[in-house]
Amino acid sequence: MQRIAVLTSGGDSPGMNAAIRAVVRKAIFHGLEVIGIQRGYSGFIDADMGPMNLSSVADIIHRGGTILRTARSEEFKTPQGRAKAHENVLRFGIQGLVVIGGDGSFRGANVFHEEYGLPVAGVPGTIDNDIAGTDYSIGFDTAVNTVVEAINKIRDTATSHERTFILEVMGRESGHIALTAGLAGGAESILIPELDNNINEVCEKLYRGYKRGKLHSIIIVAEGAASGLEIGKKLHEMTGLETKVTILGHLQRGGTPTAFDRILASRMGATAVEMLMSGNAKHMVGIAGGKIVSESLADTFKCKNAIDLELYKLAGILSI
Ligand code: F6P
Repeated sequence: MQRIAVLTSGGDSPGMNAAIRAVVRKAIFHGLEVIGIQRGYSGFIDADMGPMNLSSVADIIHRGGTILRTARSEEFKTPQGRAKAHENVLRFGIQGLVVIGGDGSFRGANVFHEEYGLPVAGVPGTIDNDIAGTDYSIGFDTAVNTVVEAINKIRDTATSHERTFILEVMGRESGHIALTAGLAGGAESILIPELDNNINEVCEKLYRGYKRGKLHSIIIVAEGAASGLEIGKKLHEMTGLETKVTILGHLQRGGTPTAFDRILASRMGATAVEMLMSGNAKHMVGIAGGKIVSESLADTFKCKNAIDLELYKLAGILSI
């Protein structure tokens, strides 16, 4: 193997740049050439790509977003789109591809490998942490810390005004961000899509808290479980309490990556290159119990990374 390519695809996540840096530098360390593909699979199809060197990835380890840009390509889902991408594989002499992204990106990589045999290595990059085969994906830790910071700030004003706050957080169909940030931020209730959420229980908890003299309440709602605005409205109707809703939105996707995400990205990016060099095609790099592992790409999108029920129970006990 002499030349590999790297792209970022799907929603960006903090730490993707650290992963790109690791891929490029590890590959160059082993004497490989690296092509950087812009705008994910869209750039793969449009031949929007060029060589990268050590300086291309200088001064990016601390930056959020992705220097390679990203996109959600509809065209790559079609055989015609993938055929165009394959023409570019031949034109640019690409012998292996590192895909940094989420489950949709891995679906694309998997089908491309099946059709054209190009060795592919997946690096999980999504704030949602929903990819099976890895305890953590790059960007999750940073997003959780962003949400916790937001909870801390909301708590100040919630206490001053004795209000109930509802915070809607991202995560698509997964409740990892809500659960982890909710526990770390001391939220009263956490609503996640993996479980049945009983609004009556949320109300009872609110009453109990206010009877005990609690000055405020914070309820975290995962976007996949319900709309924060609807929950706010319902809770107001059911309790008469004043409710305020904050939808954190895309600010959860930005910002400088935490040390955890930078280290994770560095380890995963470097391992992806090793995988390609050793002929371990069509796999994703994962982390399990702190150790780097490898998971068949096809198994990463068959199911979701399950939430830790013990964590959920603990959050309930500690916010009683
Ligand atoms: O997958 C990452 C994510 O931020 C989800 O949490 C969210 O539902 C989605 O992307 C938003 O996508 P877009 O940026 O395309 O609106």
